[in-house]
Amino acid sequence: MQHLARVVALLMLLAFGAGRAIAGVEGDTIQAEVNKAPNGLALTPPMGWNSWNKFACDVNEQTVRATADAMATSGMKAAGYQYVVIDDCWHGPRDANGFITADAQKFPSGIKALSDYVHSRGLKFGIYSDAGRLTCGGRPGSQGHEYQDALTYARWGVDYLKYDWCNTGDRNAKEAYAVMAHALRQSGRPIVFSMCEWGTAKPWLWAKNTGNLWRTTGDIFDSFDTKDPKREWAHTVTDIVDLNEPLWSYAGPGHWNDPDMLEVGNGGMTPAEYRSHFSLWAMMAAPLIAGNDIAHMDETTRSILLNAEVIAVDQDALGVQGHRVAKGATTEVWAKPLAGGGVAVLLFNRGAQPATISTTAQQLGLGGKTMRHVRDLWAHREVRMPNGTLAATVEPHGVAMFRIGG
Ligand code: GLA
Repeated sequence: MQHLARVVALLMLLAFGAGRAIAGVEGDTIQAEVNKAPNGLALTPPMGWNSWNKFACDVNEQTVRATADAMATSGMKAAGYQYVVIDDCWHGPRDANGFITADAQKFPSGIKALSDYVHSRGLKFGIYSDAGRLTCGGRPGSQGHEYQDALTYARWGVDYLKYDWCNTGDRNAKEAYAVMAHALRQSGRPIVFSMCEWGTAKPWLWAKNTGNLWRTTGDIFDSFDTKDPKREWAHTVTDIVDLNEPLWSYAGPGHWNDPDMLEVGNGGMTPAEYRSHFSLWAMMAAPLIAGNDIAHMDETTRSILLNAEVIAVDQDALGVQGHRVAKGATTEVWAKPLAGGGVAVLLFNRGAQPATISTTAQQLGLGGKTMRHVRDLWAHREVRMPNGTLAATVEPHGVAMFRIGG
């Protein structure tokens, strides 16, 4: 009898214990599992190139190869630009088993061959899909094919996925992005996950472990501050800055606010405006994804995209997004704390007239510290700060950018 009781107790313990163990695994939703930990990628904001801003749906394998060549030889790769990302419209139909294929006219050699080519240039390869049934350009989306697509990307050697939000019906963004994040993790390949949900469901509040970057706004267009009345969803640089800046505290290593890709070199802004655009993105620790024709860029464009001192501010290991510390009618002062105790400073003139803008150690959060080693990141020289004040006359729509200490 005693023996029987012991056997029953043991069986109960086993059943109870096993039940708990199973609940520990099966009880987690995919969302909960994804939320437990980040994928460990993108510890500094991703840098690279994306086809959309310049080529839109007019992208093909020659363009991507030429861009990869130019990135490898123009100094872009050496400056840190790494990912070559094909945006929308590369897709053909799904095959009989539901696997996605490439558009045979635009990509006759197939995506694997293109990915191999990009890798052979010492770069990484990225691709685009959408959480709906169709992409924004009307190609097949990934809804219902998430695990199959993630596996296909892994087999193709994809290193980066931009995942859009068109045609998603009543899908829940949190759930939809968790499914693809999980699918990518199950694929066996480290793939940076770029969420392109435009900020509608406020991903900065919940996507820290889901994505490596998330768009915070609708699409950028190549204008400093002149809106296009025909395109409500298109945002100017200053629009985007005002939407993205307040979100600074949500960004950090592995999870970045994405104010959209760069327009530098696409022709719609003046050199001063492009320098502002690039400097503001660096201050905001934004992904630096060039969106111009790299194979044919001019010297001005090159000098902006390849400004190593500005890039270093963006890529700073502390990973704090800079923000405004003072604001006048048309002038602003921005600060971004850097690893090692230094700070990056931006004096930004939004106005149409030159303006003298100044700031102090106190305003920049440097407390009583003296402001030694002040470097102008566009003039590439040391500057002086009489009486602890940093001041510059800034051209219309322009910036002056400095690094203090650190
Ligand atoms: C959306 C995205 C853009 C681009 C296009 C492609 O508008 O926000 O960045 O990917 O789709 O169709």
